[in-house]
Amino acid sequence: MDLISESLGVNAKGHLTLGGMDVPALAQKHGTPCYLMDEDGIRNVCRAFNSAMRAHYGGEFLIAYASKALSVSHLYRVMREEGMGFDVVSGGELYTALRAGVPASVVYFHGNNKTEAEIRMGLEAGVRRFVVDNREELAVLHRLAKEGGFRPDISFRIKPGVEAHTHEFVQTGRIDSKFGLALETGEAEAVIGEALALPHVNLVGIHCHIGSQIFDAEPFAHTVAVMMQFMAAVRDKFGHTLTELNLGGGFGIRYLPSHRPRSLEEVVSLTAGAVTEHARRLGLPLPALVLEPGRLLVGPYGITVYTVGSVKEIPGVRTYVAVDGGMTDNPRFALYGAEYEVVLPERMEDPRDTMVTVAGRCCESGDLLARDVSIPAPRAGELLAVLGTGAYNYAMASNYNRVPRLPIVMVSGGTDRVILRRETYEDLVRNDL
Ligand code: LLP
Repeated sequence: MDLISESLGVNAKGHLTLGGMDVPALAQKHGTPCYLMDEDGIRNVCRAFNSAMRAHYGGEFLIAYASKALSVSHLYRVMREEGMGFDVVSGGELYTALRAGVPASVVYFHGNNKTEAEIRMGLEAGVRRFVVDNREELAVLHRLAKEGGFRPDISFRIKPGVEAHTHEFVQTGRIDSKFGLALETGEAEAVIGEALALPHVNLVGIHCHIGSQIFDAEPFAHTVAVMMQFMAAVRDKFGHTLTELNLGGGFGIRYLPSHRPRSLEEVVSLTAGAVTEHARRLGLPLPALVLEPGRLLVGPYGITVYTVGSVKEIPGVRTYVAVDGGMTDNPRFALYGAEYEVVLPERMEDPRDTMVTVAGRCCESGDLLARDVSIPAPRAGELLAVLGTGAYNYAMASNYNRVPRLPIVMVSGGTDRVILRRETYEDLVRNDL
C-alpha cells in the first residue's frame, strides 16, 4: 500500500503505524481526536535538506523553517537542533520561537502588515532579518530603529511575477498580490533607492515566495533568473551589491498517492545550479541563499486520528461518515477544497470498497474533511485517520462551536510524548470576562 510518507506503515496486525508505532494503540492511550507526528521523519527531512544544499551549493545558505506551517515550542527546539533557521510572520510566532530558545540571529521576520509593537519586538530581540513588505513598513521600521538606536539588516519582499501551478488562494508571486513590491511598475527599484538613503537600516537582500504546493523545479529556476537579473539592476543603478537571495518556500508534498512532486534533491540542485549560473553570468558574487520550506518539513509527518460517530447512507446520493473533529482541526477542505488520503487505521488490509464523504461535527454543511474517498465500509466506534496533516492544520485550527483544540503527540524512537496538550473547557473560558 502506498502511504504517501515514509513515516507511515502497516504492522502485522494490519494496523497503521507512524514512526513504527501502532496508531490504534496511540489513539487508545491519548484519546481521539488527536494529531500524531513523527519527530524522526521531521529530523530526517531537515538533514536531507541541509545535505542537499551542502552538496549542490557553493555559497553560504540557510534553511529557514516557515513556522506558520506549525508553530509549537517543541518543534522550534527540534528544528533548531537540526540547524534550521526560522521564518516568523507575527509577534506570536516570534514569541514562541524565542521562548523555545531559538536565537533571534536565525530568525527572518516576515509579514505584510507588521504592527509597530511587532517591529519593536523584532528590533529589541535582534532578529537576523526584517523582510520588509512595503514603503510604509520601511518608514516605520526606520523611525523605530532610529529611536531605539538600532540599524537592522533588512531585505525586501519582491513580486517576481512568476505564476506557479497551485491553488489560487496560495499564489503570491503575481503582481495582483497583497504581498511585496512589484518589479514591473518600478516600485521595487524606487523603494530600494529610498532604503539605501536611510541611515538606520542596512539593505542586504531580496526575498520572494512564488506560491505553495509546487511540484516542479522549473518555477524556482525561473524565479532565480528574474530575481538575480534584478540584483544586477540594483548594482548597476545604485552601485549597491545585494548579498542575500531568499527564494521563500512552496515545495510540494504528497497528499495523495497520485501526487508526484520532484525530489528534494532535484529541486535543490536545479535551484542552486541556477543561482550559481546566473551569478557567474551577471558578474555577481554568489549570494547567501535562503530557502523557507514550511509544509515540506512537517506536512508528511503528521496524521489526525478520529473516531467514527455516525455513518449516514443517503441512497443514490452519498454516504456521510461523521467523525469527532472536522474543520476546527483541519479547515483546508473547507477553505481550499484540499484533498487528503483517508484510512481506517485498524483495518489497513481490508478492501477499500466503499465511497464515503468524511464530515466533521460543526454546525456547518461545508464542514468536510474529504469528499468521495474510498475506504473499507466504516463502522461507528472505529478509528479513521486523515494522512499528511502535519502542516497548516493545528496552525489553522479554531475554536468554532467552542470545540477544544486537539493535542499533538510526538513519536520518536519508539516512544510517544505529548508536546501540546488537549485544550480543556476551562481553557475555552479563560479569557471570558
Ligand atoms: N515563505 C513565505 C514568505 C511564505 O509566505 C510561505 C507560505 C512559506 C515560506 C512557506 O510555504 P510552504 O513551503 O509551506 O508552502 N495555509 C495554506 C498555505 C499558505 C502558505 C502561505 N505562505 C495552506 O494550508 O495550504
